Amino acid sequence: MLVRTLLVLESPEIRTRVRAALGQLDVVVSLLRLQGDFWTRLAKESADLVLASRSLLARDPAADIARLRDLPDRPEVIVFTEREDSEARADLLAAGCLAVLDAETPDRLLRESLAALVQRRSEWLTARVGAGRGQPRATLDDFVSTSGAMESFLDIARRVVPTDSALLVLGETGSGKEHLARAIHNEGPRARGPFIAVNCGALPEGLLESELFGHEEGSFTGATRPRRGYFELAHRGTIFLDEIAEMPLHLQVKLLRVLQEYTIHRIGSERSIEVDVRVVAATNRDLLVEVEAKRFRQDLYYRLGVVTLSIPPLRSRREDIPALVTRYLEVYRRRFVREIADVQPEALDALTRYAWPGNVRELMNVMERAVLLSRSHRIGLEDLPESIAAPGRATPASVAGVAASDAECLALPREWMDRTWTEARREVLVQFERAYLTRLLRESGGRIGEAARRAGMQPRSLFEKMRVHGLRKEAFKPRRRD
Ligand SMILES: Nc1ncnc2c1ncn2[C@@H]1O[C@H](COP(=O)(O)OP(=O)(O)OP(=O)(O)O)[C@@H](O)[C@H]1O
Ligand SMILES: [Mg+2]
Repeated sequence: MLVRTLLVLESPEIRTRVRAALGQLDVVVSLLRLQGDFWTRLAKESADLVLASRSLLARDPAADIARLRDLPDRPEVIVFTEREDSEARADLLAAGCLAVLDAETPDRLLRESLAALVQRRSEWLTARVGAGRGQPRATLDDFVSTSGAMESFLDIARRVVPTDSALLVLGETGSGKEHLARAIHNEGPRARGPFIAVNCGALPEGLLESELFGHEEGSFTGATRPRRGYFELAHRGTIFLDEIAEMPLHLQVKLLRVLQEYTIHRIGSERSIEVDVRVVAATNRDLLVEVEAKRFRQDLYYRLGVVTLSIPPLRSRREDIPALVTRYLEVYRRRFVREIADVQPEALDALTRYAWPGNVRELMNVMERAVLLSRSHRIGLEDLPESIAAPGRATPASVAGVAASDAECLALPREWMDRTWTEARREVLVQFERAYLTRLLRESGGRIGEAARRAGMQPRSLFEKMRVHGLRKEAFKPRRRD
């Protein structure tokens, strides 16, 4: 992570020395202009570390240090003093600053001290970004594989772990794209750095750009203070760009530039900031189709797809299902402290035959529910959802909540995705109504009463619908042979 360092230093000499000392570190340095009321200007800043001159603080500095530490993102404060006695230094530390450095410190020592302080701050920030997820650390071993498809996939995954190359992860929903990205990060040389996940489809276009690249104060309405972007946060780590197909074209151009030069510009700033990040992008769309439709840039596709990892859907590797079932049985048995020995053969059979449109995520949910609900020490058909236990009887309601399968998505004509929800919905409805009515009238030989009964409609409504679609009952009467 790049540490944002704000210099509030009075003496030009110490400013120059500090900038030189920070030169080689993972920092973005900003200088606060000290003319006039700099406290007001300071209130518009945000930083991770503030380096301040003792002379700029009040005689009793505690309140000023508290003010600095109260800035957004709660920076740590390092104070530069001139010949302060040990009593005064102790007061400064007691007031909450991270370190007190003597302005006379020789260059080499200054450099080393700042390096250690920046490093400490960076580790703290990285831990904070990764904290709070409460999930076990992802590893490649999580990807259970007894199937050939999964073995060859994992073989490629293991080979890219130690490298820095950009990756493109493809796979259906719930197949573990993010899990894979995390595992590759955790097992590689960047494991100590941050893992930053960005969902490119979840943010409005305008916001996505500033989230990714950051912005300077006043670069657009609402940008009241400078803000760093995800690329700066991901420095020395991995940035995971989820739903990359949703990224608007003008940002694709910028992303391509980042992948070529590994420098970024905050919005509204000329300054380039070097970032050392591994980029992993993911999508469950067919990117080649997007490229052909000119919604995804071909050059970016090639740049990102130097290594493409396609996670095979569960239904194409059914051999893996029993092992996954056993694994998640174990996980949830422990979590809920339930004494469940195994899964009955009929239940395992049903689990293996099911199509798993939601892939591993769906399997985990099914196992969690089964372990929770099971009344015996073995999981049986009765503990499984009806869509799995008795697929023939599955009603549409029983599959609600599961994302559409690939086949269902592909059945949707591509051009519908170019329309808004309302337009597409209206059109689908019109097409459906016309096809339904045509077939209904054909099969009822144009007899309105019968047709209305079969469709469960009032004859009047049927007539009205036929009128809207320009259908006449005469057209469906059986032809009399003359
Ligand atoms: N092989 C796996 N081993 C362990 N857990 C997995 C595995 N694959 C997926 N998971 C878990 O399943 C859930 C879904 O995985 P993930 O979010 O990575 O899927 P995804 O492919 O990104 O799905 P989507 O396209 O819907 O975003 C997560 O809780 C993840 O930890
Ligand atoms: Mg995902």
